[in-house]
Amino acid sequence: MHLKDQLLAKIENRTACIGVVGLGYVGLPLALEFAKAGFKVIGYDVSDRVVRELTAGKSHIQDVSSADVAKAVKSGKFEVTTDESRLQEMDAISIAVPTPLAKTRDPDMGYVLAAADAIGRNCRPGIVVVLESTTYPGTTRDLLLPKLEAAGLSVGEDAFLAFSPERVDPGNPVWNTKNTPKIVGGITPACSEVATALYATCLDTIVPVSGTETAELVKLLENTFRSVNIGLVNEMAIVCDKLGVNIWEVIEAAATKPFGFMKFTPGPGIGGHCIPLDPHYLAWKMRTLNYKTRFIDLASEINSEMPAVVNGSRILVLGVAYKKDVDDMRESPALDVIRLLESQGAKVHYHDPFIPKFREDGHEYTSVALTDKEITTSDAVVIVTDHSSVDYQRIVALAGVIVDTRNATAKLTKGKGRIVSLASAPSYATA
Ligand SMILES: NC(=O)c1ccc[n+]([C@@H]2O[C@H](COP(=O)([O-])OP(=O)(O)OC[C@H]3O[C@@H](n4cnc5c(N)ncnc54)[C@H](O)[C@@H]3O)[C@@H](O)[C@H]2O)c1
Repeated sequence: MHLKDQLLAKIENRTACIGVVGLGYVGLPLALEFAKAGFKVIGYDVSDRVVRELTAGKSHIQDVSSADVAKAVKSGKFEVTTDESRLQEMDAISIAVPTPLAKTRDPDMGYVLAAADAIGRNCRPGIVVVLESTTYPGTTRDLLLPKLEAAGLSVGEDAFLAFSPERVDPGNPVWNTKNTPKIVGGITPACSEVATALYATCLDTIVPVSGTETAELVKLLENTFRSVNIGLVNEMAIVCDKLGVNIWEVIEAAATKPFGFMKFTPGPGIGGHCIPLDPHYLAWKMRTLNYKTRFIDLASEINSEMPAVVNGSRILVLGVAYKKDVDDMRESPALDVIRLLESQGAKVHYHDPFIPKFREDGHEYTSVALTDKEITTSDAVVIVTDHSSVDYQRIVALAGVIVDTRNATAKLTKGKGRIVSLASAPSYATA
């Protein structure tokens, strides 16, 4: 039987050994979906801590319960390792390693290259490799393909290579790895066929596209779309401030239009691992082709200036995660807000039920208890992230000044203090 048919048969009858390289926000939920679908799954990660914790049945990812990890480990379907030679056992390998930006805002492909090298050293005919990490168009062909070819494999014939972007939205109670449609694009049609068959075993909807570059660009379009629209609405917030109009009222009214308008809300900047970074992958790629991506650059400029909208003296920052109800603070605008406030001489405290402590610029910050005293003795409370578990009515009742960058207080009974909605006039001032 042809190697492709053998691999498809192993996928179909669940005897394929699935490998997931990188067990973070993206890789861990994916690994568990494959295990739930009946496959033997081996997770490979370079972090001893991650492997130790998962082996002990402890999840380090908020959206994944420890009970689910423990169950998968106990069933023998899910094993994790730091030993790269275990890659030799895998029939299918999904790569979900970080793709950060370097300080220069150029892509840092070090993690993808390290993973590709490890696969190159340990691969064999009859495998399918899928890159999931968000990256610039051309990465799968330019960085992964040569590694498989150098290992003597002929991609499309005896090995299969594809790109399939992850769309996971941390903290989203409705859309998860399983029910979010999955884009798949292969180097050859055979590669697309195998990768589609692989993901169809455990995810609800697969959307095949014509190639790896298309699949790579789909992800960047999605996140650039968000970045540009957030930039637009942030600029509208500044416009409203200058006109003395309440931005939130404008947005809510515009959102009653049943077609042709999609609601985005302003904030203190954008955070997370995706939206502030991914568009720069595309901007970088286009710079190499002598094209300047003006929308991307402008949105990034406006969004990164938003933290400058707030400043003060003794400040309590409420919420430092990059968005509500998540424990992830990578690229969180709160970091810029805190840095900015401190550079103005402010003494900054923070409270975040999801982030007990963090280290930034060599300084360790610890979440303070949200006591009445903490609220009343702060000159201002800045709501940067509107976690659901915080009692905003109590904040409104006790705080002297609230800078509400999330509209968390809009529908509350006003207290004695003054509430400043982001970039709008202090329209909710009460005596
Ligand atoms: N977090 C999200 O919401 C999200 C959503 C969509 C796409 N993505 C993309 O998915 C990719 C992974 O993101 P994440 O948030 O899961 O990252 P993460 O930092 O949570 O996890 C990455 C894991 O990879 C491991 N790792 C690093 N180098 C490795 C190597 N050479 N071999 C094996 N393991 C290695 C790390 O130890 C870590 O456990 C990124 O490209 C990101 O842009 C993330």
